[in-house]
Amino acid sequence: MAEFTLKLRRYDPESGEPAYWDEHTVDLEPHRSVLEAILQARALHDGSIGIRCSCRAAICGSCGVRVNGKPGLACHTHLDKAQRGAPDGVIEVEPMGNMPVIKDLIVDMDAVHWKKIQQVTPWLAAKQPVPEREYLVEHEAMVDVTQSMACIQCGACVSDCLSMEVDPDFVGPAALAKAYRFVGDPRDARTKSRLQELADDPHGIYDCTHCFKCIDACPKGVAPMSQIMRLRRRAGSDCHIEDPNNGERHERAFVSLVRDFGLLNEAELLPRSYGGDSALAKFKPAAAKELASSLPAIAKALLRRKVTPSTALRPHKLPASDLKAIKHIYDTVEGRAERVELNLYISGRDEDLL
Ligand code: SF4
Ligand code: SF4
Ligand code: FES
Repeated sequence: MAEFTLKLRRYDPESGEPAYWDEHTVDLEPHRSVLEAILQARALHDGSIGIRCSCRAAICGSCGVRVNGKPGLACHTHLDKAQRGAPDGVIEVEPMGNMPVIKDLIVDMDAVHWKKIQQVTPWLAAKQPVPEREYLVEHEAMVDVTQSMACIQCGACVSDCLSMEVDPDFVGPAALAKAYRFVGDPRDARTKSRLQELADDPHGIYDCTHCFKCIDACPKGVAPMSQIMRLRRRAGSDCHIEDPNNGERHERAFVSLVRDFGLLNEAELLPRSYGGDSALAKFKPAAAKELASSLPAIAKALLRRKVTPSTALRPHKLPASDLKAIKHIYDTVEGRAERVELNLYISGRDEDLL
């Protein structure tokens, strides 16, 4: 047995009192979980501590919290590891972010997480005619969606999503991973319309900023950001959906700029996103109109020195051999007969694919 001190974030919105920190010390074996420590503190010291849990085995997804600032499952976090991760040895437990607190460590999943899951039609729209016995599906197709099927709806990814913090209407990592579960399923009849809706939505697939937070947060290896990138590839490369948010063109501009310059050329990014994928994009009337509407963003980029007049006029140059190596990567990837999608269950080494 060892002694562990927990610092719990307590808050009861109905009380009208502000949130406060509450410390409890418990005796438990180091391999026990943070959830067990909270339950012991509740049983022995304060029966009013609010925490939601059920399976205690990382299956039901109900005990999502932040431990030492990182989202995860309380029942899946060992006390010794949590103690080592705490700067002063005191394990800090808070409710998840991006969702309103109902009480203490319990957040309102209905208000955010489940509302977004409902937005993506989270069920199979069966292709017709429905076979008399069963659909026959390629093994590979099901392996492709297995990773998104591993989601236990804990909300840890939603808690830390940076885009959602800025835009609460963003569909979000968990719901988009759920969307891929059906987009990737060959039995679904709504593949194209699902993709069209998610691409057209200004808070849809192109609202993700690739911050990787959801990948770090997920206790089940769902890698929501990777599922979002898959949705984008299906929408842009496979279904050729050009969205009204410039998302697909913006992405294409990134790809072509790295191919042309070896690194991102910020000054060319907006013109190419608006006017098409070429150095002449900035002279197109359509691009000029959209660029004018982006003047506040351009001013911000200049103020923050993301772009400077000198880098805009004279973009960086890589040595020719480096640029050649980068182009070789593009040629290899684009030259494949089929796109290779790796996931948790389909693994391989890049060199095996060359
Ligand atoms: S990668 Fe995208 S979806 Fe994931 S947390 Fe970041 S912004 Fe959100
Ligand atoms: S994707 Fe991962 S972190 Fe997000 S809800 Fe599902 S299991 Fe939880
Ligand atoms: S209690 Fe079920 S996942 Fe933690």
